[in-house]
Amino acid sequence: MNTVPVVAVLGYPIHHSKSPKMHGYWLDQAGVSGYYVPLEVHPDNFEAALKNMPKLGFRGANVTIPHKERALEIADFVSERAQRIGAANTLYFDVDGKIHADNTDGYGFITNLKKGASEWSAKDGPALVLGAGGAARAILDALITEETPIIYLTNRTKERALDLASEFGNGIEVLDWDKKNSVLAEVKTLINTTSLGMNGVGDLGLDFSQLTGAMTVTDIVYTPLETDLLKHAKQRGCTCVDGLGMLIYQGVPGFSNWFRENPKVTDELRELLLS
Ligand code: ATR
Repeated sequence: MNTVPVVAVLGYPIHHSKSPKMHGYWLDQAGVSGYYVPLEVHPDNFEAALKNMPKLGFRGANVTIPHKERALEIADFVSERAQRIGAANTLYFDVDGKIHADNTDGYGFITNLKKGASEWSAKDGPALVLGAGGAARAILDALITEETPIIYLTNRTKERALDLASEFGNGIEVLDWDKKNSVLAEVKTLINTTSLGMNGVGDLGLDFSQLTGAMTVTDIVYTPLETDLLKHAKQRGCTCVDGLGMLIYQGVPGFSNWFRENPKVTDELRELLLS
């Protein structure tokens, strides 16, 4: 193994990834001499590339779109949560060159929520999840693990929501996209996992007048940091948690493991990632 730890993030494309900036900041801050590099790997080359990484001396890797599912299949060991989610985002390579796959997206989501809304508990009441894509999978798993009593799930393409509900079990109730406002009044946690609201574009079709101070509202979109949803939720007195922290906290377990230092989540880091 290299004495200087080297870690990469693999994606296709990869230029948009904020992970190199984030891990670079943490390396500097902790005074660790190590490297975290972006690697653009075509899907056709992914398996060969990943399998060779331990031999090249990498400590581990992050994987992002479109490699998250394939990484899980290639790994020698898979954590329970990555198995449940059906995708990996964090990989560790052991001394024998074996690949261990984990998924820290749900951890990042819950940790961000707990840091941003200290009183929040999933057990407080029903959650409404908007969207049924890759991000929703990790978030549903985290909400179930945290014992959310009822999870309402709605998606423009209902079929995807029904598929997730049958996979993740009984606690999930699927609603038509245009019926989501019918449960809003009883919801304690409202989560947008869709891309709507990114760059100020798109309307979720929510009846904001039903939001109350008893609700916690969070959005995985963080460009802008205050989405239209969060702006309205704040005006209605909801506890609001922006999505940047999910990105940051999902990176914490990987960094700690690869570089043997606990990274600090600072305002400076948040500003850096938004710049
Ligand atoms: P991710 O992995 O980031 O979750 P994804 O799998 O492409 O990305 O999912 C994006 C989510 O945003 C989906 O729930 C998608 O709804 P569909 O399954 O119907 O595509 C949702 N989404 C994107 N654009 C949307 C729009 N204009 N209206 C409603 N939902 C939208």
